[in-house]
Amino acid sequence: MAKVLPAKLYNHYYIDRKFERLNLFRQLEQKYGGKRVLYPGSFVHITPSFVYPEVVYVDNDPEAKQFFDKPANYDFVAKRKHYPEPASIKFHAVDYQTGIDEPDESFDLLISLYAGFVSLHCKRYLKVGGILLVNDSHGDATMASLDEDLQFIEYGNQTEGKYTLSTLYMDTYFVTKANTELTREWVMRHMRGFKFRKMADVYLFRRIK
Ligand SMILES: C[S@@+](CC[C@H](N)C(=O)[O-])C[C@H]1O[C@@H](n2cnc3c(N)ncnc32)[C@H](O)[C@@H]1O
Repeated sequence: MAKVLPAKLYNHYYIDRKFERLNLFRQLEQKYGGKRVLYPGSFVHITPSFVYPEVVYVDNDPEAKQFFDKPANYDFVAKRKHYPEPASIKFHAVDYQTGIDEPDESFDLLISLYAGFVSLHCKRYLKVGGILLVNDSHGDATMASLDEDLQFIEYGNQTEGKYTLSTLYMDTYFVTKANTELTREWVMRHMRGFKFRKMADVYLFRRIK
């Protein structure tokens, strides 16, 4: 497979594949506000920086490090950002499970998309009252649903790149079939979401304690 140059990575993975998810971040910012965002397992998905002025990206893939090492690779953020101040973009080339050099309870939004159990390892960095955006591709939404510190507040579904957020019939989500006991150990072992009766593309939780 041809190697993609760091400067072209965002185009290749996100623009060409129509997978930026900008519409989702815009809705989240409009609805919940917030300025400081933590994105463990981000790869080069720098879209949140179009909407939020301060984003900390974390990934242990060397390709992501190469991309973030050179600000010229993402100077397009300045053209596409929706806020007046300069973008603050920081990157940690670490395994998020071993700790991130950022203060606890200092972020307004924690993003967990296709990158393992971010909620489990990185909830500590989220402010009480802050929001977790999570999908269930690797089981992290299921994991969050079992966490007493996190309250399920909304879900979203996507059609042709446009997300619709909803709070309708919330009590029908994360419901297992009768006689099924779901545990953290099950989620850890399977590393995927549980097949609930009803599922969504993304979920929002609020850290309540
Ligand atoms: C499938 S990509 C998803 C990228 C991005 N979240 C998105 O939605 O487009 C998963 C990324 O998570 C990173 N990742 C997985 N586990 C990680 C860990 N424990 N620490 C740091 N990065 C991790 C991988 O290196 C990879 O770049």
